[in-house]
Amino acid sequence: MAKQLWKPGNMLYPLPAVMVSVADAKGRPNIITLAWVGTVCTNPPMVSISVRPERYSYPILRDTGEFVINLTTKELTYATDYCGVKSGRDVDKFKEMKLTPIPGQHVKAPLIEESPVNIECRVRQVLELGSHDMFLADVLAVHVDEKYMDEKGKFHLEKSEPIVYSHGDYLTTGELLGTFGYSVKKK
Ligand SMILES: Cc1cc2nc3c(=O)[nH]c(=O)nc-3n(C[C@H](O)[C@H](O)[C@H](O)COP(=O)(O)O)c2cc1C
Repeated sequence: MAKQLWKPGNMLYPLPAVMVSVADAKGRPNIITLAWVGTVCTNPPMVSISVRPERYSYPILRDTGEFVINLTTKELTYATDYCGVKSGRDVDKFKEMKLTPIPGQHVKAPLIEESPVNIECRVRQVLELGSHDMFLADVLAVHVDEKYMDEKGKFHLEKSEPIVYSHGDYLTTGELLGTFGYSVKKK
């Protein structure tokens, strides 16, 4: 069994592909699809997003220091791709994709109503890394769609049919294989 040796690159997949919403100083909203996104700390809750400075959304992120991460679903796959290939310089992505901007609690960037989970974030630090700048941000609030809540108050994210981005492809998350800690759980 041979392995090919590839030059250094990004091969950490699958990843979430999220729609990040922002609003400029005049309140004009935009959406940018991002996959270079991560959870970086539990307490305080923090995330990172990495954005190329040439993106239309980049100066908005820099100026306002605010954004919302909107999780994506099978139903939102087309919009996820569209918001990752079209620029807010040229189109109103909310309008074109028939997505609904709704106000958050803490930031001026809107939530995308159609997304099952919206995470309000405020930038704490920007790291200039090279092709991308990484925005380290605090999570200020999380909004979840009640549609996926059962009678016991458990949130079933899987029912929203989340998608992942893997080496150029969008995929559904497939079958349940186990739950956290199942490998050591007493039978
Ligand atoms: C699946 C996917 C993932 C992407 N991930 C990133 C990313 O992590 N960082 C980034 O700067 N651009 C990323 N892009 C590209 C931007 O979304 C794209 O350039 C977009 O048109 C920029 O929008 P804007 O000009 O309105 O800001 C991604 C695109 C797709 C389709």
